[in-house]
Amino acid sequence: MRIVTLLNEKGGVGKTTIAFHVAAGLAVAGFRVLAVDADAQGSLTETMGFEQSAALYDLIVRNRSFKDVLRYVRPEVYAYPKRKVRGQLFLLSSNVETQSIASNSKDALAFVRRFSELHQAVDFVIIDTSPTPSLLHGAIYLATDAILYPTKCEYLSFRGLQNSFIHREENERYRSQFNFAPITSLGIVPNIYRHGTLEHRENLAELRENYGNLVWEPIPQSTIWTESSRVHRAIWNYASGSPAAQHGWNLLKRFLEAIKHVKPTKS
Ligand SMILES: Nc1ncnc2c1ncn2[C@@H]1O[C@H](COP(=O)(O)OP(=O)(O)OP(=O)(O)O)[C@@H](O)[C@H]1O
Ligand SMILES: [Mg+2]
Repeated sequence: MRIVTLLNEKGGVGKTTIAFHVAAGLAVAGFRVLAVDADAQGSLTETMGFEQSAALYDLIVRNRSFKDVLRYVRPEVYAYPKRKVRGQLFLLSSNVETQSIASNSKDALAFVRRFSELHQAVDFVIIDTSPTPSLLHGAIYLATDAILYPTKCEYLSFRGLQNSFIHREENERYRSQFNFAPITSLGIVPNIYRHGTLEHRENLAELRENYGNLVWEPIPQSTIWTESSRVHRAIWNYASGSPAAQHGWNLLKRFLEAIKHVKPTKS
């Protein structure tokens, strides 16, 4: 099992959208996947068509069992046209109570401990996070094997990215106290990209200069992303054949390539 977290300390860059599509795409590709909504806004929960609820809080603070809190996601909402979904997708939903998980849980390793129960049952855990750094992020950093960073090609998103890198360094020091191997940077995904603007083109070039191969192909801005999220469906399911759907699937292919090199960081 590998745990991958979506991070950028700037809002609206596509963390939730990409978390859903990576999780859904992995399930299409045959993996058993758990998507975790670790943001008190509950956006991933709603994007995936569920009511907000305190599943994550129940798991971590109230110590409920996975079988009581997991939600099964129907393949009809994320299947790729003409492909049989060979894996499975589950969701751990969130609501405003997620905000107080860290302060109400005495065990810093609670995420590590609870997710390790899934060792045999799940191939990937994909965690969506809030843009505001919090104690909860600290607990998530401990559990994470790899991070994917979505960003817009704009100044404030880059600042968010830099702040994420700074906090990640601090958390690496914390992890080393437990002898956990360092987290892998899976990639940076330039999202909501507008090739027609000089600002975006220049900023993408700067991103590539600074981070080289870590920068994935940009995902162009398209209203189809917002529409598919409104109807709670994966983009390739909602608008199959559209360029946006192709970009969504390319993201998954890139993810599968990058994840090959990632090993679990805890034995
Ligand atoms: N490539 C894209 N083109 C156009 N709209 C997009 C694209 N990707 C995401 N969006 C839209 O942008 C908005 C923000 O995306 P999303 O909620 O995934 O960002 P986020 O980083 O999770 O935000 P927050 O930090 O507030 O949780 C959503 O309305 C989403 O549908
Ligand atoms: Mg979000």
